[in-house]
This record gives sequence, structure tokens and C-alpha cells, in this order.
Amino acid sequence: MAKRSAKRIGLAIVGGGRVGLIRGEIAARHPQVDFIGLAEIKPDRAREVAEKIGADFVTSDYRELFARPEVTAAIISTDEHLHVDPILAAVERRLSLFIEKPLATELTESERVLKAIQSSGVDAVVGYTQRFRRRWLAAKEKVRTGQLGDVTLVTSRAFMNRLVALDNYQRTDDPGEISPMVISGTHALDIVMWMMEAKRPVEIYARSIAKALGPICNGIDATAGTITFEDGSLYHASISWALPVVWPAAVYSLDVGIVGTEGVLTIDDTHRDIVLATTHSQGEGYAPDATRRVDFLGSYPPGDIALGELRGPMRDETEAWLNRLSMDLTTQHATAAEAHDRLMLTKAFDLSARLKRAISLPITASDEKQRVRRVAAE
Ligand SMILES: NC(=O)c1ccc[n+]([C@@H]2O[C@H](COP(=O)([O-])OP(=O)(O)OC[C@H]3O[C@@H](n4cnc5c(N)ncnc54)[C@H](O)[C@@H]3O)[C@@H](O)[C@H]2O)c1
Repeated sequence: MAKRSAKRIGLAIVGGGRVGLIRGEIAARHPQVDFIGLAEIKPDRAREVAEKIGADFVTSDYRELFARPEVTAAIISTDEHLHVDPILAAVERRLSLFIEKPLATELTESERVLKAIQSSGVDAVVGYTQRFRRRWLAAKEKVRTGQLGDVTLVTSRAFMNRLVALDNYQRTDDPGEISPMVISGTHALDIVMWMMEAKRPVEIYARSIAKALGPICNGIDATAGTITFEDGSLYHASISWALPVVWPAAVYSLDVGIVGTEGVLTIDDTHRDIVLATTHSQGEGYAPDATRRVDFLGSYPPGDIALGELRGPMRDETEAWLNRLSMDLTTQHATAAEAHDRLMLTKAFDLSARLKRAISLPITASDEKQRVRRVAAE
């Protein structure tokens, strides 16, 4: 077989925070990446990250970075509510894109971004990192090849200590756009909907509660709901991101069950199999907290640092994307259309919980606004 030669990649990273740094360090080791530029609005952070990833160009203005002729692809790793403008600018420049989830935090914006991506034809994938873990790939394969028969019921239970919630509510000026489903529940939802991709969701019914985070930051503690598919099969999802700070999972602790007419698959992804207890405070993870002395190793979704490098799904996901670009490989990354669908579903959970009634799926941005206005007027 004649081998094609791999293409070079000139990478722009917009947002040098936790995730921008991880992806930048991984990209810096990829043989086809011969240029890395960083746009970061905080000067100290920009300097620190540029040095760690050996950036060839640093700026606070992503437009200046996108104007560089070396750039062929971009990672958009700004805060959740700040993805839209850099995505649209990158699409205009026709860059291949890796976008952190969610596509946007508002449905109108997500629709706008999806339209721009689709009409430009640029290759855009979204960071649903868990798709790169072997356990979810193995589960997907069993469902896809009919080992369970026809799937009738899926359950997912996500438990998180409140550090991610507190961090997200602190970073936004609009707490109404932040919810456990939109920011974190979207990962479990994507895994399940990816496995259920042959079925069409038609209705959602959900409830939320805000007793712990409500008084602290006007936030939602937990959401539980049920999606019904066209053929009557059910997906029940629950998430709480308001567990006490000392709950040992660094971020995510998940339990999934999939029942079919001919089989069942249960996946314990709570990470209770490796427990660390120490008198030292834990300095790793999404939002480290000195009071946490017990940790479920493996519960930080990007992976674990060992021998100075991140090992785990975010590394595999980033490398797979760079190989996709340089060698035109097919990968299991979420598409922009799937990411928009996940935002729509998480917004539908929140809308049903707010209205306290079942909602037909799919919803659009104008549906969402009209239904909320109608209830306010009632
Ligand atoms: N896939 C995963 O497992 C996973 C895990 C954590 C976070 N995330 C996602 O990654 C994204 C980033 O999260 P994070 O934890 O790294 O956040 P962060 O706050 O650590 O980093 C965001 C950075 O973007 C910078 N920034 C904001 N606007 C900018 C702009 N216009 N130009 C340049 N820089 C700008 C900020 O200054 C900050 O340094 C979010 O969308 C989050 O949901 C994904």
C-alpha cells in the first residue's frame, strides 16, 4: 500500500487555562505540529503556559494569532461561555477546529455556531473526552453490535463534589446559563446518547433542586429526569454537583446501567477501585482544595499526571485529533452537530425542570424563550 505523507499542523490555542495547557503540552510532542501559537488574555498565565508548551507566538488577541500564516488549526479552550466569538473567527479563517464542550452555553448561540461550521465545511470536533476511554468504547461496541438486543432502559448517576459548581458559578456573570446538566451532566449524557444514537428522543421530564448551592451562589444542586425515545425506551439521568467538598471523587463519579431485551451491561465508573488517603492536601484536579485528603484516583476526567505527563483520555483524544488532521483518519470525536444536540438536550432538562412539565423534543432556542415567557406571564 502506498503511504501518503502526513500533513504539517500549525496550531493556534485560544485560552491557556487548565485544559489549554494540557492540550498544548501534548501537541508540543506531536511530530506533525511545527508551530504553536497561544492567545491568552491574562498576561501572567500567557507567559507561564507559553514557556511550558514552547509557544512560537503569544498574544492576548486571538485575531492576531489567526492572522499568522503558519496556522492551520485551532483549539478553542476558553471558559464555557466564551467559545462563540473565537469559533466564528476561526471558521471565517477556515481553520480545522477542536472546541471544548459545550459548543456554547446558550441555545441561540449554539445554533448560530453550528450553522457557521456547517456552511463553511470546516472540520470541527468537540471535546467529549470520555469517548476516548476504553470502558465506554467497549460498551458502545456491545450496544452497537446488538449484544444486549434492543435497549429498553439506560440509567446514569453522576456524583460530584461541589468544587466544579462553585468555580463555574463564580466565573460567570449569568448564573442562569450555568447548570449541572449544561456544564457537567453533558459528559454522561453524551456517552449515553452516543450509545443510543440509533434512537430518536421525543420527550423529556425533569426536576431540579437548589437547597445547598442556591443560598451560596444562586446555583442548582441537582437535576434528575427521564428522556423517552420514539420506540418507548427510556433514559433516566441524575446528577448532583453539590456533594460536600470532601467527597473523594476529584470531579466525576458515574454509574451507568444499560438494559436490553437480551442482555444487560453495568459500568461502575465511580473510581472507588483506587483510593488514596494522605495527610498531604491534594494539589491536582480541576479545582484542588486543601481540605481534601482522600481521593479516588482516576476521577479527574482528563486523566492523571505521571512522570511529568498527563496520562489518560485527554491525551488520547488530543493525539487522535492531531492524527485526524495530519493523516485524514476517522475518529470517534463528537461532531459539532452532536455537541449542539447535547446542549439542546441539557437545556431541555433545565427547561422541563423550570416549567415542571414534560417537554417535546427537540427544542429550539425560540421554543425555549417562548415557553419561559409564557410561564412567567401565567
Ligand atoms: N473535556 C474535559 O474533560 C474538560 C475538562 C475540563 C474543562 N473542559 C472544558 O474546557 C474549557 C476550558 O476550561 P478550563 O478548565 O481550562 O478553564 P480555565 O478557566 O482554566 O481556562 C480558560 C482560559 O481562557 C482564557 N480566556 C478567556 N477568554 C479568552 C479570549 N477571548 N482569548 C484568550 N483567552 C481567553 C482565560 O483567561 C483562561 O485562562 C471549558 O469549556 C470546559 O468546559 C473540558
